[in-house]
Amino acid sequence: MEASPDRFLRYVMPDALRAAAGRLATFLKARASDVVFVENATSGMNAVLRSLQFRRGDEILVTSHVYNAVRQTIHEVCRRSGAKLVEARIVLPIEHVSDLVSPIEQTLNRRTKLLVLDHIASPTGLIFPVKRLAALARARGAKVLVDGAHAPGQLTLDIPSLGVDWYAGNCHKWLFAPKGCGFLWSRRSAQAGIHPPVISHGYGKGFTGEFDWTGTRDFSSWLSVPDGISFFQELKASRVRAYNHRLVTEQARRVAAAWGMPVDGPPELHGSLMAIRLPDSLQRRAPRLLMAELLAQLRTVVAVMPIEGVLWARISAQVYNVPADYDRLLEHLERLRPRGRRK
Ligand SMILES: Cc1ncc(COP(=O)(O)O)c(C=O)c1O
Repeated sequence: MEASPDRFLRYVMPDALRAAAGRLATFLKARASDVVFVENATSGMNAVLRSLQFRRGDEILVTSHVYNAVRQTIHEVCRRSGAKLVEARIVLPIEHVSDLVSPIEQTLNRRTKLLVLDHIASPTGLIFPVKRLAALARARGAKVLVDGAHAPGQLTLDIPSLGVDWYAGNCHKWLFAPKGCGFLWSRRSAQAGIHPPVISHGYGKGFTGEFDWTGTRDFSSWLSVPDGISFFQELKASRVRAYNHRLVTEQARRVAAAWGMPVDGPPELHGSLMAIRLPDSLQRRAPRLLMAELLAQLRTVVAVMPIEGVLWARISAQVYNVPADYDRLLEHLERLRPRGRRK
């Protein structure tokens, strides 16, 4: 690109980009013409949310575990249109998948125009049964937008089979692509009127025409997706998933048992992320400081997040992790707990 920017951007990049989108589409079991690259999942969600037309009285339904950046986008969409953001409350710990379905089912109504689902919820790693929920939404006439920021690489995806209208995801989380690599899939019949967050020369030239060029940028993250997928497949995707899932669920249960605290839900509703309620003795810690301390002292990232005023620690597993990593975490947190307070 740098050797001859014009040659690259005008004559090489357009086809290379479509080829990379095609490889990603195959991985997602989708058609290449239904997949476009975006900066990240947040951009993909913004593209759809800010393209749709809502009216006063319309409702946009999310769960209480929605990613906050997406909640903020919906607040802005509602402020402009008069639509209402409605949150179905998910109460932790959940015991059964129905604890994820019922709150949404009970909140869906004829005013719900859009259901926004996280495929894998950010604070916990809980996997929502998207196909089942999409069917419920469709039966009530609502469209479905899925935030799959964490899903590609954690879950086996067949996006068209989910029965949703739009699906945004990331390749830079679990698919080994560099930062700045997200995608948006749209059902063909739902592509009209969906514009990228930045409108450019492709305006009016269809879904791929609009998204493939949104101004001069470094296209290398998008073009590296085929290599990320190849690397993942060389490691053997099913083995990676099985290893990560087993490690994270076993370790989460071990940490939870040591603290006498619950995990967020059953192992089968998780991929490579799982949350444990922090013990009472750590509940008053500032999440940001605790995370910074773990990062500085253990070089370990644990997402400590408040959910309804209670702190949960979300741990994760990738192929380079081993049980000893979680031993160090447990030992370190044990030292932080005030003496005499072991709960
Ligand atoms: C559910 C969900 N949505 C969106 C995002 C944001 O991803 P990005 O920063 O790549 O847009 C995350 C990140 O963790 C997430 O978990």
